[in-house]
Amino acid sequence: MKKVITYGTFDLFHVGHVNLLKRAKSLGDQLIVGLSTDEFNHQKGKTTLVPYNHRAEILKACRYVDQLIPESNWEQKQQDIIDNQIDIFVMGDDWQGKFDFLKEYCQVVYLERTEDISSTAMKEAIEVFMQFKNKFEI
Ligand code: CTP
Repeated sequence: MKKVITYGTFDLFHVGHVNLLKRAKSLGDQLIVGLSTDEFNHQKGKTTLVPYNHRAEILKACRYVDQLIPESNWEQKQQDIIDNQIDIFVMGDDWQGKFDFLKEYCQVVYLERTEDISSTAMKEAIEVFMQFKNKFEI
């Protein structure tokens, strides 16, 4: 059985995330997702709108995800790969080259990102909408 792993925050779950997970799963038989904890995001200076337990429930409901593990630091990836006997490590190509050091442990694949969508862009759009709403009291 071929096992695939990927990592991310998956805030405001969107079609770019679905495309990534679908293609990651198609590379093997089982897909494990390392989901960034709120504490880890905080360390990175990143704030999510959706808390960890909700992001976890949403990901678990996605048909391409077989197992979820928490991602709580930068260093855990090689141990996760060994512990879970991972064959392929997958990330979007915004991370191109950044995880090549893991090639010692498994295959490393960077998938093309879906264009024109991100959690950051969605958060910015919500902020603009809220400002407009407050300004015109609608
Ligand atoms: N991803 C993708 N296409 C997008 C957005 C994300 O393929 N349009 C991939 C990322 O490359 C990553 C995974 O989905 O492998 C999880 O990404 P994450 O950082 O959680 O999502 P983003 O929308 O990129 O969030 P942010 O704007 O906070 O970086």
